[in-house]
Amino acid sequence: MCGIVGYIGFKKASEVLLKGLSYLEYRGYDSSGVALMTKGKIEIFKAPGKLNNLREVLLKEQNICNKSTSGIGHIRWATHGLPTELNAHPHTCNCGSLVVVHNGIIENYKELKNELEKYGCEFKSQTDTEVAAHLIAHEFSKCKDLMAATTNAVKKIQGAYAFCVMHKTMPDKIIVARKNAPLIIGVGEGENFIASDIPAIIEYTKKAIYLNDNQVAEIKKDSIRITDLEGNLLENKVEFLPFEPVALSKMGYKHYMLKEIHEQSDVARNVLQGKLTNSKSEIVLEDVKLTPKELKNIKRIQIIACGTSLHAGLVGKYILEKFAKIPTDVEASSEYIYRDTISDENTLTIGISQSGETADTITAIKQVREKGSHVLIITNRPDSTMARLADSLLPVNAGIEVSVAATKSYMAQLLSLYLLTLYLVQITNPESVKDKEIVSLKQEMLELPNKIEAVTNNTKAIKETAKKYSSFKDFIFIARGINFPTALEGALKLKEISYINATGYSAGELKHGPIAMLDETMPVLAILNKGCVYDKVMSNCEEAKARQAKLIGVTNFIDRKSKDLFDDILTIPDISDTLSPALNIVVLQLLAYYIAEYLGKDVDQPRNLAKSVTVE
Ligand code: M6R
Repeated sequence: MCGIVGYIGFKKASEVLLKGLSYLEYRGYDSSGVALMTKGKIEIFKAPGKLNNLREVLLKEQNICNKSTSGIGHIRWATHGLPTELNAHPHTCNCGSLVVVHNGIIENYKELKNELEKYGCEFKSQTDTEVAAHLIAHEFSKCKDLMAATTNAVKKIQGAYAFCVMHKTMPDKIIVARKNAPLIIGVGEGENFIASDIPAIIEYTKKAIYLNDNQVAEIKKDSIRITDLEGNLLENKVEFLPFEPVALSKMGYKHYMLKEIHEQSDVARNVLQGKLTNSKSEIVLEDVKLTPKELKNIKRIQIIACGTSLHAGLVGKYILEKFAKIPTDVEASSEYIYRDTISDENTLTIGISQSGETADTITAIKQVREKGSHVLIITNRPDSTMARLADSLLPVNAGIEVSVAATKSYMAQLLSLYLLTLYLVQITNPESVKDKEIVSLKQEMLELPNKIEAVTNNTKAIKETAKKYSSFKDFIFIARGINFPTALEGALKLKEISYINATGYSAGELKHGPIAMLDETMPVLAILNKGCVYDKVMSNCEEAKARQAKLIGVTNFIDRKSKDLFDDILTIPDISDTLSPALNIVVLQLLAYYIAEYLGKDVDQPRNLAKSVTVE
């Protein structure tokens, strides 16, 4: 969470910082601030709320902005203290000579604060970051060297951090340090950049250095010096950034989320391109580095992920067990990392993450690597920390996803898991590739993009249903089998962008407790595809109806019985149960979108959320 930008060079720093922060809004958006270096002074400007508020503050300070060619900026997602102007970064020491912006959490901030108060440090905010400002200033007072002071300070800090530090007596440099939070240094000509993520600087340079954990760097406009925490000089490994400047256009859609939902047919085509050409062809996954022998030795798969990526993993379990016949466990990273887990060289660990920066998943990946498991990462960001930790990488190619609610990245994750499953089958059991079910799954995958389009091009019924149900305060989503994760994901979409209480249940579990909540105020949305569990879900719907719940059906099959039972039916094109999660979810994304839009919510940047969750 939180985004950091820094600049030192010859451009107007305020403009580079503001633009950079606008590309990092996905990391948090509850307040923002910049510190601008001017002759012998550091000027700080902050604003609570969206970045536009800071933009307006800076518009009134053009005199200062015109003079400053170096500075640091921050966009916040509050961890310690309310999202107020006081708690917004940058933070300073007592005299305001030193400023710090920070991404991460300082776990021992209370102990450090108590210690620093003994030296007369006065704390104004409720943040953990302010401790870093005082601590680095305290170290600086001893050695008068900003890089050494930062190094000494971070050695005392426990937790995760990416810092940018400036001191008014050293206007020619910015110091940065990192541990368990991303930070890149953009390399320019007569200017250098700092950012939490590539989009913030890609307009200016395609060359960058990825700072690693426990490294500190001194950045001047024409030099970069990196050391470890012992002060040993390290090589500047400059890499080429494989990114085009991102055109952050909504392409005429009201929100990025709607645009991204509509992009899913093309995303599906992109994911399949070059990997699956026809129903009889082999799956090509060049980046999976396991040899056929190693693949045959896999005895167990564990999938680790969070949020929407976790739901993709749950679908993955069904298909991996059904087709590849490998026992598969799926677990939320945040739970996985606090258990005595078992994995070895015969366990394949699949980490799924849109951003590749989710702190819990990164920690889990590091743990399993130590135990010898092969780590395969499925991510939308091949440049991310997770991708860099991977033994094998499956980039999902969904394109930059701006809206906080994940949609097209989920589609890309799902299809990548189907491809991976079919690839495993091809290696471990080549004969079964000719099986009717596998050939027909491949054929359906190739037809999927057109079916997604059929849903996104025909939203009338979804819009009407959204309007009809937008005043309800609670929803239950039910499904069985491979669509149970669809129920979880549909409910997550609805709650995160509309703030309506929505819970996904396995339909069979309804009668074991949740049914107690049902009455006419609690609509039940059932996902039911014609397949082995259809009749069972229908029975569960009958049970709900008997408790007067309003019923919405999302299905590929309508008959007299379903017409009588459901209050509203949203249909999808015909599709097998096996691939139906990839189509049903599009209906649920659109339903959540139109309900939130109807309620006038901030769809792309819902309250309290951030797209990239970089704290545990
Ligand atoms: O970047 P990741 O896929 O690792 O992120 C995981 C979750 O934070 C993410 O899926 C979150 O649940 C989204 N807001 C869902 O829309």
